Amino acid sequence: MLRRIEEAKTRAEDDLRAVADLKKIEAWRIAHLGKKSAVMEALRGLPALSLEERKQAGARANEVKTLLEEAYRQKLESLKEAELAAAIASESLDVTLPGHPFALGRLHPTTQAVAEVCQVFAAMGFEVVEGPEVESEYYNFEALNIPRDHPARDMWATLWVDQSIAQSDQRVLLRTHTSPMQIRTMEERRPPVRAVFPGKVYRYEATDATHEWMFHQVEGLAIDTGITMADLKGTLYEFARRLFGADRKARFRCDYFPFVEPGVEMAIDCFACKGAGCRLCKGSGWIEILGAGMVHPEVLRRMGCDPETHSGFAFGMGVERIPMLRYGVEDIRHFYSNDFRFLRKF
Ligand code: DAH
Repeated sequence: MLRRIEEAKTRAEDDLRAVADLKKIEAWRIAHLGKKSAVMEALRGLPALSLEERKQAGARANEVKTLLEEAYRQKLESLKEAELAAAIASESLDVTLPGHPFALGRLHPTTQAVAEVCQVFAAMGFEVVEGPEVESEYYNFEALNIPRDHPARDMWATLWVDQSIAQSDQRVLLRTHTSPMQIRTMEERRPPVRAVFPGKVYRYEATDATHEWMFHQVEGLAIDTGITMADLKGTLYEFARRLFGADRKARFRCDYFPFVEPGVEMAIDCFACKGAGCRLCKGSGWIEILGAGMVHPEVLRRMGCDPETHSGFAFGMGVERIPMLRYGVEDIRHFYSNDFRFLRKF
């Protein structure tokens, strides 16, 4: 019996040395420590032996069982470690390899220009407020002192929304300018108010190099007590210099818009030729950049303000014009024809 136990021990130890992976070690455990293993069978056979033999063989069999269990535990441990080390080695990543290049997205030139204009005004204390592109006739025209049969409506060729899908009795349109946001904002706020309103506007017009049926504007409004034309000029002068260069000159000339009185058109001296006259400024030395004026008393009343105590100025500008002037873009239609060769330049 003792001999059989020693043989079983040697065989088990030899076999264990040959075990090279985790799959085989389970087979080894079943063969050498399982119910049908030689050691377990020896233990089961003990009752048939004489007392003396039983003592010796029993003690040795138990010893061998413990030895094999310990050997098994150690082998299992080292196999697991080896497996982990192999996994780490095979899955290692060479971080010095060059990566796959991929194309970075970028902001649309209009988006960049809108953000830039808003930042300049935000730095001067203006809030930035957005509003609806589908607008009622009231906000787009009437409240801005442009009644239904006013000849000035011709200034804005209008895209009307089919009345059967408009969920109101009001006639509905695609806003022709961002000026309606002046009224909407003043319905919700009390003076002092300083705000700019960026967004899309729509015109029912044939497109050409300088006209699109959709483009962007930034509108501005300041309402308080004691605001004068000097505030308008100072604010817009500062804006022009921050956007187009600190040495810019500005020129204000009379213009007509129904919602302001007086109304002006603002021009800056041409930053390309410094006023000498070139292609950009069409030889005049001046570039028109926006319309503005002192808010009309009629409009102030619509805003819920008393024209006797309150006053303000407003302005509106086309946004695409800014990158067009700066980068010499000759056709506004490039902005929305989605040609990457154009968009990638910005
Ligand atoms: N809404 C005008 C347009 O689309 C631009 C404009 C001119 C806005 C004068 C103003 C302003 O606020 O005072 O042509």
